Amino acid sequence: MNHDIQNVLLSEQRLAEMVTELGKQISEDYKDKNLLMVSVLKGSVVFMSDLMRAITIPCRIDFMSVSSYGSGVKTSGVVKIVKDLDIPLAGYDLLIVEDILDSGMTLSYIVELLEARGPASIKLCTLLDKPERRKVDIKADYVGCAVPDEFVVGYGLDYDEKYRNLPYVGILKPEVYSG
Ligand code: IMP
Ligand code: MG
Repeated sequence: MNHDIQNVLLSEQRLAEMVTELGKQISEDYKDKNLLMVSVLKGSVVFMSDLMRAITIPCRIDFMSVSSYGSGVKTSGVVKIVKDLDIPLAGYDLLIVEDILDSGMTLSYIVELLEARGPASIKLCTLLDKPERRKVDIKADYVGCAVPDEFVVGYGLDYDEKYRNLPYVGILKPEVYSG
């Protein structure tokens, strides 16, 4: 697996620091709220499991899974719900937890969908952000860090369902997906 990585972008230690910082901020911001963390499967599971343990206030978690039509390294913008949330959202302050904000199409679709269910509030937390790739007007409220416009894998992020279990975030060698 490591052979397919061009270079490590975020080490385990750097990721841990980012998560600790985000957890601190979120715990402070949500101390008087009714926090429900919504993890978007599957890419955000590793981040989610670390982030929830960095949060020091009571919170609930739930999961949803969407698939964008079209495989590979680009999203089509058309999204289908594969697994919906289990609980009604009224009264909850939602924090949507994502692995990476790229074109923004997936998240903007999810936000629109969940907003219609009338939660108390919705905010977005993404581990990684590729701001220059944005196609729709969406900004995350909490960002681990911005990354260059390269295809990254590890710490939950995949290429073709692989590399999610790498403990760091690395840039995938272009020959892996173009070859
Ligand atoms: P968006 O709808 O274009 O913002 O796409 C977001 C989704 O695309 C993420 O949740 C990832 O699953 C996937 N994605 C975008 N960029 C990358 C990347 O560099 N590595 C792995 N997955 C990515
Ligand atoms: Mg993916």
